[in-house]
Amino acid sequence: MIGTNYISTFVLTKLLLPLLESSPVSSKIVNVASFTHRAVTDMQVDEVTVSGKRFLSSKRYPYAQIYEYSKICLLLFSFELHRQLCQMGKSHQIFVNVADPGVVETNIMQDFPASLSWLAFFVLKRLRLLQSPESGKEAIIDAALAPPGIETCSV
Ligand SMILES: NC(=O)c1ccc[n+]([C@@H]2O[C@H](COP(=O)([O-])OP(=O)(O)OC[C@H]3O[C@@H](n4cnc5c(N)ncnc54)[C@H](OP(=O)(O)O)[C@@H]3O)[C@@H](O)[C@H]2O)c1
Repeated sequence: MIGTNYISTFVLTKLLLPLLESSPVSSKIVNVASFTHRAVTDMQVDEVTVSGKRFLSSKRYPYAQIYEYSKICLLLFSFELHRQLCQMGKSHQIFVNVADPGVVETNIMQDFPASLSWLAFFVLKRLRLLQSPESGKEAIIDAALAPPGIETCSV
């Protein structure tokens, strides 16, 4: 999960960055985050965590914890990329955004036991927190299409 959610994004961005830097038009990188990163309280930013090796000793696969870690890694990467682009004076050419679609009824829990995902969606729907994929995608499209805001390089 760390590989899909974070490392692949990191590698793809690194591969594409030279193309974006040499492009005559400005570009925008939108990473899809999740509010669940707020559940991470004791993160250690080291190779064992970022590679996912820290979780290998767990008896049961800690789905939620790894997901939260993968999303905070993605968030920190997005902040750091923006900071480095600022330092290079390129933040007006390449914009980095992070979008959180909220709680959306997708296949995101397909690896969970079916009864657990059914119960989670049932409760979230009852609490009126669950969005359709159509509305969930709007946050991401908005982040991609929004005109560039005021450049802030203070992170
Ligand atoms: N749903 C939510 O409530 C929610 C909330 C916050 C953030 N997000 C984020 O929104 C994004 C989309 O998630 P979703 O809810 O739409 O989940 P989803 O329905 O499970 O869709 C995930 C997509 O990623 C593809 N995928 C998964 N692992 C992959 C891999 N190793 N290589 C290539 N493709 C892979 C899947 O392909 P297959 O269909 O072929 O498996 C699927 O198309 C994710 O970044 C998720 O963290 C979702």
